[in-house]
Amino acid sequence: MNQLTHLECSYCGAIYESEKLQTVCLKCGKPLFARYDLEKVKETLSKRELVGRVSSMWRYFELMPIKERKNIITLGEGWTPLTPVERLSESLGLKDLWVKEEGIIPTGSFKARGLSAAISKAKELGVKRVALPSAGNAAGAMAAYGARAGMDVYVFMPEDAPRVNIVECEAVGAKVVLVKGLISDAGKLVKDGNEVMGWFNVATLAEPYRVEGKKTMGLEIAEQLDWKLPDVIIYPTGGGTGIIGMWKVFDELEELGFIDSKRPRMVSVQAQGCNPIVKAFEEGKTESEFCVGANTIAAGLRVPKALGDFLILKAVRESGGKAVQVTDEELLDDVGKIGCLEGIFACPEGAATVSALRKMVDSGEIDKDEKVVLFNTGSGLKYTDLFKTRAQTADPKIPFDYLQLLK
Ligand SMILES: Cc1ncc(COP(=O)(O)O)c(C=O)c1O
Ligand SMILES: [Zn+2]
Repeated sequence: MNQLTHLECSYCGAIYESEKLQTVCLKCGKPLFARYDLEKVKETLSKRELVGRVSSMWRYFELMPIKERKNIITLGEGWTPLTPVERLSESLGLKDLWVKEEGIIPTGSFKARGLSAAISKAKELGVKRVALPSAGNAAGAMAAYGARAGMDVYVFMPEDAPRVNIVECEAVGAKVVLVKGLISDAGKLVKDGNEVMGWFNVATLAEPYRVEGKKTMGLEIAEQLDWKLPDVIIYPTGGGTGIIGMWKVFDELEELGFIDSKRPRMVSVQAQGCNPIVKAFEEGKTESEFCVGANTIAAGLRVPKALGDFLILKAVRESGGKAVQVTDEELLDDVGKIGCLEGIFACPEGAATVSALRKMVDSGEIDKDEKVVLFNTGSGLKYTDLFKTRAQTADPKIPFDYLQLLK
């Protein structure tokens, strides 16, 4: 049984009905959080009960916002590997390093979790048409889940979004608009179109349920580590739903008695060219300022101002963590490092967590014995435009010089 009871504003605490379509708080404009009757959840969900459940994020059904299972729109997202990365670990002087590998999820990124949850709930509440602004990967995910739900899907992306994101959306029937500007400009177009197009806006934290999908990353880490959370989680941050969702669900798990009060230090990684959270963190502010001229090759990190900035900063500070920035050169270099050492073709956003980890190890902020989890949030296969190749050409009619391969 699902135990969703109501929605609560994450800022002012105002309460809203969950079985009506909701967006953000009508009083303060901030994101709404789903709340559950955790005492009732305990009746059907136990650690033992989880063994043998479906190998997707829907194994945690009681903690998900869908009332009836028949409304779940799934492609098998979640329950991704938590992979030990010993060679990378050794190269950094660490002993206990893991990567949560989100690159193998349907549509190639962790965005599938949030969109599977949000589209399922939207379907349950009768929505037929959806729209969202996206850096790229959320668009691909929404297009796929929207198609499966039989909805009309409209996506608005910056015109320099990776080409693959445009192709993957069109391949599953979505209408794509390329916007001259940033994701914030795309967001304005979606908002302004609400009335004339009658669509439901599924932008990050503009509705309450993407964060519920993303929180399953925290549930999985807990279960995969036998209900003992790691010392540090390093997460690449754009809109921040992942970090916000994980921080939320750790409290739910504690209330259920699945974990104790120990929390990981949550580290939010951004690119130097788009670092609003890092700036706010360093300046001791509770909200971020709009990052003018936001620019990084890590498309998912190109979010100049997140609606949930105050929640990201809260999670980072309450956990004793930190916000760290890395350069595009550093993160691109680390795509190569994690690739060559571990065989993981990471997305640039995921590789940024390696760069951040290195900085924190070098500065002594992470100890060599600590258990650290990095998030590779998507597959490098979605970013092939970014990489030059070194392949040589062989013509079978001309003898091949094998010694070239040793260079
Ligand atoms: C691959 C990838 N990693 C990280 C992010 C940032 O995620 P979030 O918006 O949850 O902070 C994105 C967002 O588009 C992304 O596509
Ligand atoms: Zn409010």
